[in-house]
Amino acid sequence: MPRRIQVLPDALANQIAAGEVVERPASVVKELIENALDAAATRIDIEIRNGGKTEIRVADDGHGMSRDDALLCFDRHATSKIRVPDDLRIVRTLGFRGEALPSIASVSRTTLETAEQGGVGTRVRVAAGRVLGVEDCARQVGTTVVVRNLFVNEPARAKFFRSAAVETRAIVDVVQAHALAHLSTAFRLESNGRALLELPAAPDLASRAGALWGDDVAARFLALRHVHEGVSAAGLVERPDAAPTGPRRVHLYIEGRPFRDRELVRAVERAYRTTVPHGTRPSVLLYIGVRAGDVDVNVHPSKAEVRFRERWRVEAAIEQAVRSALAGIESAATLDTRPGLPRMPQLERQSGDERAAPPIGQLAFFVPAAPGDPDAERADAEAAPGGARTESRARLWQVHDMYIIAETRSGMLIIDQHSAHERVLFEQIMAGFGNGATTSQRLLFPITLRLTPSEYDVVDSLRALFEGVGFEIEPFGGRTVIVHSAPNPHPYFDPQRCLRDMVGELATGSELTRAAHNQHERIAMTFACKGAIKAGQKLSQQEMDELFGRLFDTELPYHDVHGRPTVIRLSLEEMERRFGRHG
Ligand SMILES: Nc1ncnc2c1ncn2[C@@H]1O[C@H](COP(=O)(O)OP(=O)(O)OP(=O)(O)O)[C@@H](O)[C@H]1O
Ligand SMILES: [Mg+2]
Repeated sequence: MPRRIQVLPDALANQIAAGEVVERPASVVKELIENALDAAATRIDIEIRNGGKTEIRVADDGHGMSRDDALLCFDRHATSKIRVPDDLRIVRTLGFRGEALPSIASVSRTTLETAEQGGVGTRVRVAAGRVLGVEDCARQVGTTVVVRNLFVNEPARAKFFRSAAVETRAIVDVVQAHALAHLSTAFRLESNGRALLELPAAPDLASRAGALWGDDVAARFLALRHVHEGVSAAGLVERPDAAPTGPRRVHLYIEGRPFRDRELVRAVERAYRTTVPHGTRPSVLLYIGVRAGDVDVNVHPSKAEVRFRERWRVEAAIEQAVRSALAGIESAATLDTRPGLPRMPQLERQSGDERAAPPIGQLAFFVPAAPGDPDAERADAEAAPGGARTESRARLWQVHDMYIIAETRSGMLIIDQHSAHERVLFEQIMAGFGNGATTSQRLLFPITLRLTPSEYDVVDSLRALFEGVGFEIEPFGGRTVIVHSAPNPHPYFDPQRCLRDMVGELATGSELTRAAHNQHERIAMTFACKGAIKAGQKLSQQEMDELFGRLFDTELPYHDVHGRPTVIRLSLEEMERRFGRHG
């Protein structure tokens, strides 16, 4: 009997592998950039023609290859990056399979030019997987790979290419994604001779984000940094009041490697609860680090996904990280027209040999923040005169019976009295639901309310929760109810109006009631919104002091439950700038 099974020739095996590795021009660009980064390049120049369909050229100034390696690198499973199985567990390079170059070369016409320190340059030409020639060439240290006519031998796959504009967009995304993780490398992307991206080496993430998107976009972000039980998270998240505007950007990295993960993005979104309206999708740039061995990066054909050993731990750490960033004064809206870019965690370059011995359990990304820097403003707010965290007396002024102005060490805060009180009441009610504490007063004259059928349903089904807020409600036949007790959140509180407004909103539904995640939140939010001090209410000094103090005792003092800011900060610096006091 003849054998049915045979081992595929290399060229065919590579072509099959290419099916997974190379999907479109952007995948080629991704692989070539990763190789350049692994070679510790400080500059990567990318040129594309016709969306990369006609030509892709990636040049780097990395360590280059010897003549032998230049030939070997087109062999399947030829890699310099891992040697023994254990290396895979702690792989620090972006590549490790030895598949990218042979795959690319099997479906295109590829030329590689490379030179090592002190060596002569080598040029290797490969067409559809066949080596056409190897020769000396003049070249500085580094590597250039030119890939022409992608899928020249697979017209069926070339048919799946999209327009040059769409393929170009995908390539821009790939370059951006890597540029945001490798700050000390300069990137340049040119399409049909026109520069699309010009990114010099950046000292920190803020400058890189600014170079990519403009400083005003970068300034919408909040820096975060958090380490918890072996998981570190650093990066940028959008300020809640900025979140609804503009297209969303999501970039996740593990050890300098971009990856996708819907669940982690959800964890970020969970952290935004009660600070943004439902459906708001904030942008995120997150750099995650776990202990060696706690992540498997070898689970996806194009390495676009990873697997965490203890995913819940990572999700929890990320949620906490974002939550604590939202709690800081840096998350407050600013008045500054030229807001200082967020002070961001500096990311260290993450490539090649420098990654050889990373500290275990800690991201090589993180370098300590400038001493005393990031938390200064936060401390400032907490130490604000009259702040809840100090005993000193407040210096607060009310303007237009709507806003409270507070002096702080580095400038001033403008507080929206209604929004601020909303945040205070919301957190107070939610805490009360948790520990059973309610503050309620027996009414001297019980209130009688006639309700519509849907309003009656709301009251009837949520009676226990209304009670948790402090409303003791008794059905009185028909659709009438009697209210015996009511909360007393402030001296100007009108229980009848508050309850009517709450019930009305709960019965008809509103953006706010939809933003809530459960009935408890729904009740707490509507009560906070209807029961808080109104704009237009004059406040005594003592009332202002109390509101101010209680606001800064909340978990998220800078955001109300609608996604609006409660506080706007104006720095001395900005005032000086506006009054021309600089210089
Ligand atoms: N730009 C470059 N500079 C220096 N060496 C390179 C460069 N590109 C490739 N190499 C060498 O060629 C080898 C093969 O590259 P290739 O991309 O095919 O595999 P890999 O990077 O090891 O793994 P992966 O398939 O996961 O990308 C690399 O291990 C590296 O030694
Ligand atoms: Mg590679």
